[in-house]
Amino acid sequence: MEKTFLMVKPDGVQRNLVGDIVSRFEKKGFKLAGAKLMYISDELAKTHYGEHKERPFFGELVDFITSGPVFAMVWEGEEVIKTARDMMGATNPQEAATGTIRGDFGVTVGKNIIHGSDSLESAEREINLFFNSDDVLSYDKQDSSWIY
Ligand code: PPS
Repeated sequence: MEKTFLMVKPDGVQRNLVGDIVSRFEKKGFKLAGAKLMYISDELAKTHYGEHKERPFFGELVDFITSGPVFAMVWEGEEVIKTARDMMGATNPQEAATGTIRGDFGVTVGKNIIHGSDSLESAEREINLFFNSDDVLSYDKQDSSWIY
């Protein structure tokens, strides 16, 4: 089953949005496979956002993501990578539809609440960057026959 990496950013943690965000993915029918509250080191931030290192906001992005705890998660389900991105909404909250996480809670692109992998390759890379394989759990969930 497909897995994705999602992360409530420091603004989402500080604004008490972890529970609401977890609840949205649970209610959708996805399965939580791993989660932890953690600080991101400068080194991990630069690796994670490495593809954006030439962009003008790179320094701001690294400073922001290391500014407080994040809530890192692995979610599992059919088409979870694309569906989670749809549930997050557009990168810029001002363009994100109402009903999406960024549309409901965000105001500016620099503090847009949540990160989600954008492809199978980035999901695998990001899960491995943030989680040891032992911390991504495989287990049966009793509601799966009511979802699939
Ligand atoms: S995306 O979703 O990856 O296609 O978005 P992209 O525009 O390429 O942005 C990459 C990440 O940079 C963040 N971002 C910014 N941060 C601060 N200031 C500005 N202006 C800005 N523009 C984009 C954006 O939220 C993406 O971070 P993640 O964590 O991947 O959402």
